Amino acid sequence: MNCLQSWPEPIVRVQSLSESGIKSIPERYIKPPLHRPSLKSTDDDFRTNNDQPRMNIPVIDLQNMFGQDKALRDETLRSVSSACREWGFFQVVNHGVSHELMRSAREVWRQFFKLPVEVKQEYANSPTTYEGYGSRLGVEKGAKLDWSDYFFLHYMPHSLRNQSKWPALPPSCRDLVAEYGDQVVKLCGELMKMLSVNLGLGEDQLPDAFGGENIGACLRVNFYPKCPQPDLTLGLSPHSDPGGLTLLLPDENVAGLQVRRANNWITVKPIPNAFIVNIGDQIQSVEHRVIVNSEKERVSLALFYNPKSDLLIQPMKELVTKNRPALYPPMTYDEYRLFMRTKGPCGKTQVDSLKSNT
Ligand code: OGA
Ligand code: NI
Repeated sequence: MNCLQSWPEPIVRVQSLSESGIKSIPERYIKPPLHRPSLKSTDDDFRTNNDQPRMNIPVIDLQNMFGQDKALRDETLRSVSSACREWGFFQVVNHGVSHELMRSAREVWRQFFKLPVEVKQEYANSPTTYEGYGSRLGVEKGAKLDWSDYFFLHYMPHSLRNQSKWPALPPSCRDLVAEYGDQVVKLCGELMKMLSVNLGLGEDQLPDAFGGENIGACLRVNFYPKCPQPDLTLGLSPHSDPGGLTLLLPDENVAGLQVRRANNWITVKPIPNAFIVNIGDQIQSVEHRVIVNSEKERVSLALFYNPKSDLLIQPMKELVTKNRPALYPPMTYDEYRLFMRTKGPCGKTQVDSLKSNT
């Protein structure tokens, strides 16, 4: 059923490479020239005394969604709708998740990655489930690799949640990770209702189509070590997230995430205490990637909110018409995710390759 048993090559921790003090990066992290980031324009992006306003993804205040004023709620829904249509990416503030919890969750993961390699090695993952400490996505032999390590774990469904696979150190890690998951999953539920209403459906229809109580939720904590040649590589290659929604808690100090807009890569400037939200392939996604730098390492927490894994994914009946037919054949999320887990990040070629030839 699942042919992903082991990694095709020995795993090298990018953090160890970075800390070894090498001045040039190994060949397998060097991207072909066309795929390299153009870091110069990124610097321009961040020049604050630039006359041109810097382009950034929309920032949406969710405060009014939790209040009783319908007109204000509708206005918020409209901003989410246009952000989804125009960008597929936005930041949310006043989202209800404790700022203190966001800070401590990020901090505890930073501490985890600072632990000695032998400690982290106990959680070394395999491509069967990807759970644990990893340093590559995809199992293609000889593939170019990304400049990052990560930790992947499951929250939901409950049958997959196994706290003994979560880091035992730092001592507060498991409790913080659990509390963080509870609060962020709840926020995802609210956002799903908003998307449902924006699609012209009842607020529970899209959440129900995702499996209601049985949705999937998992966390990937990305660690991007300092890189001596950031212009030759990427922290995470262009990809779209396979699931429904992603809530990213970025590093407060270091930018890195870039969102594709036509042929440009826009560097996201994180707002304090905000989450970066993006819609995944199950709703219609946007390509993004991560750049690295030589000065600072970077930590980000990506919580993926996914459909129940064995449901057949297809458009809501209400939304399909003769003139607006389904674009993709139905398949389960389990089947879909296997693509990503085999090939690793490769832009949107995955989802595009599935389009029906109509
Ligand atoms: C991801 C992702 C962005 C980041 O984990 O899928 O896109 O800034 N992360 O780390
Ligand atoms: Ni992503």
